[in-house]
Amino acid sequence: MRQYRIALIPGDGIGTEVVDAAWQVLAAAAARHGFALAAEAFPWSCAHYLAHGRMMDADGLERLSAFDAILLGAVGWPATVPDSVSLHGLLLPIRKAFDLYVNARPHRLLPGVRGPLRAEDFDLLVIRENTEGEYSGAGGRVHVGTPHEVAVETSIFTRRGVERVLRHGFEQARRRSGRLASVTKSNAQKHTMVFWDEVTEQLAAEYADVQCTRYHVDAIAARLITHPASLDVVVASNLFGDILTDIGAAIQGGLGFAASANVNPGGGVPGMFEPVHGSAPDIAGRGLANPLATIWAGALMLEHLGEAAAGAAIIAAMEAVTGAGRVATPDMGGRASTAEVAAAVAAALADG
Ligand code: NAI
Ligand code: MG
Repeated sequence: MRQYRIALIPGDGIGTEVVDAAWQVLAAAAARHGFALAAEAFPWSCAHYLAHGRMMDADGLERLSAFDAILLGAVGWPATVPDSVSLHGLLLPIRKAFDLYVNARPHRLLPGVRGPLRAEDFDLLVIRENTEGEYSGAGGRVHVGTPHEVAVETSIFTRRGVERVLRHGFEQARRRSGRLASVTKSNAQKHTMVFWDEVTEQLAAEYADVQCTRYHVDAIAARLITHPASLDVVVASNLFGDILTDIGAAIQGGLGFAASANVNPGGGVPGMFEPVHGSAPDIAGRGLANPLATIWAGALMLEHLGEAAAGAAIIAAMEAVTGAGRVATPDMGGRASTAEVAAAVAAALADG
């Protein structure tokens, strides 16, 4: 039987609740589709930091490298550990160590879910560069605290980094509608974004079957609100993608639905799959969290592992549950608990 080793990092707050919920659904999918998932859970979190002085064990990355994939809940508990410590101690090292340069996020409305827009028929895949660009961390400050203070933050775009993420965009466009939107700002950023456009053009020649359109980031931000159905695959740099995917999450009904895959399409390393939301201290420990974002992330994980049919079955089961509208967490307008929504999805999976 095909078997996959999955590292579970529930993390903090609702992270533990949504990972428990998603695991129930993943186990049901595995049983139905004839493969096995072997899980090992790691307690790395802010509680772990308070007990041991580090977010993850010293050999944590090495241990994770033995897994086929990582499913992460959420990391952060600002009341006891500063976010800069928790983020830099766990989430960012994993993305960096495994060079997970693609951050892919699907944005569409599940049946029965009301978003804030009138347009409801959009189906987007936003691909965000995840390792360099505006978030490369290069820069510094001088004359701190004086009237002459200077702060510099340098964007770093390498040919390797730009080409590989754009290529992934073209590949995904080819698999989907054949349409790709490349996000730029070359009218104002005359070095990095002109370079981005040049590499886009070079790849467009290679992918003649893909219809590639360039949009300035401000224009596509507006288009996501006014004409989201006119877009399909969107590829963007780290900062631009970060902002556009928050719009994506908002128009798909909120953080309870937004899922994300951090992958290195070259393979050989575990991908990390997670909901976009954080640990939600305001609702943690009460069974109020919507587990669908994490269940969706689990479906992305199975797809990435080569179990596309099982991933699609999970999505169909989620759609059956949201479409019926009977079992819903409070953010969806219902009264069901996290575990009840997960159980309903698992049951729909068994029926499907
Ligand atoms: P958050 O995403 O945890 O919560 C924002 C709001 O959305 C809250 O009102 C929360 O109740 C609601 N919400 C989030 N997920 C939900 C769900 N599944 N179902 C229903 N409602 C949901 O963001 P916040 O409050 O800014 O951050 C809390 C902590 O999480 C911080 O420590 C932050 O650094 C961390 N964080 C971690 C992330 C990660 O692990 N990838 C991502 C974002 C934040
Ligand atoms: Mg963001």
